[in-house]
Amino acid sequence: MNKDLVSGFDLTIDDINKIFALASQFKEQKLDTILKGKVIGLIFQKPSMRTRVSFEVGACQLGADCIYFAPQDIKLGDREPVGDIAGVLTRYIDLIVARTFLHQHVLDLSAFAGISVINGLSDLYHPCQALADVYTIYEKTGTYKDIKLAYVGDGNNVAHSLLAVAAKVGLSVSVATPIGYEPQKDILEKAQEIAKQNNAEIVYTDNPVQAVKDADFIYTDVWVSMGQENTEKKLQDFQAFQVNAELLRKSGKHSLIMHCMPMHRGQEITEEIIGSENSIIFEQAENRLHTQKGIMALLLGGQEH
Ligand code: CP
Ligand code: NVA
Repeated sequence: MNKDLVSGFDLTIDDINKIFALASQFKEQKLDTILKGKVIGLIFQKPSMRTRVSFEVGACQLGADCIYFAPQDIKLGDREPVGDIAGVLTRYIDLIVARTFLHQHVLDLSAFAGISVINGLSDLYHPCQALADVYTIYEKTGTYKDIKLAYVGDGNNVAHSLLAVAAKVGLSVSVATPIGYEPQKDILEKAQEIAKQNNAEIVYTDNPVQAVKDADFIYTDVWVSMGQENTEKKLQDFQAFQVNAELLRKSGKHSLIMHCMPMHRGQEITEEIIGSENSIIFEQAENRLHTQKGIMALLLGGQEH
């Protein structure tokens, strides 16, 4: 595996399979000493529940310690150059997990740190989330072949990472966003190219009904991401993209419902769908813990375990 996990495009299929195998192993047996003596630094510029807690608990269960840096502690990109922070932390700790506003800050940490850097969400990508999502899909289906994931929502960080990881494993994805909220063109095209090589298809549409047709999984994310303005216009633009009973019926299949959380009930998803038998949202959230442990073990412990 590369030194860092900045985006899903960094991973080979072999890396993904190893992370998933480790995740399954840790799901079966939660305690291990593979990371004993290691220290993990979590630099977070934004709030987090799942990402922070799953890294901290996962590290603890594998024998490592964590230091959490809240925005005011390190003041990433403000108090001193990011490269200086990376250079010094390299001499103190073993791994950095960073949640940033600017993706460039993750890239700078990666470039200047001699230790591994994991992207814990930036404005562009959320690779740890996508790994847990695709792991969850594989748990449910046992295959990627002929499985269709429909992503309905904003074409930003979570969508970008799903595209990258799905393309790598050969999972077909249909992405539906309102016009003006499409995934970044270069990311979409790169994912489409990789998916094609892996006998899968990634398609973009601005029609949510078209996207969910025959979908095995329907996935959504918040309409207003952290750091974005909660504009009336944005909420209006996304009205037709709510995951609700009507949209679910349009799939024509017993589609399973996914959401990276946190959820805004009544906006991107209805309470009814969250509580329905189709929802695997909490299993998906649980898998953040197991896959996080797989990622850390692969980066720090070696896969020969
Ligand atoms: N899904 C996710 O990353 O959740 P948090 O923002 O709570 O970490
Ligand atoms: N797109 C969301 C994901 C939260 C996990 C955000 O960036 O806030």
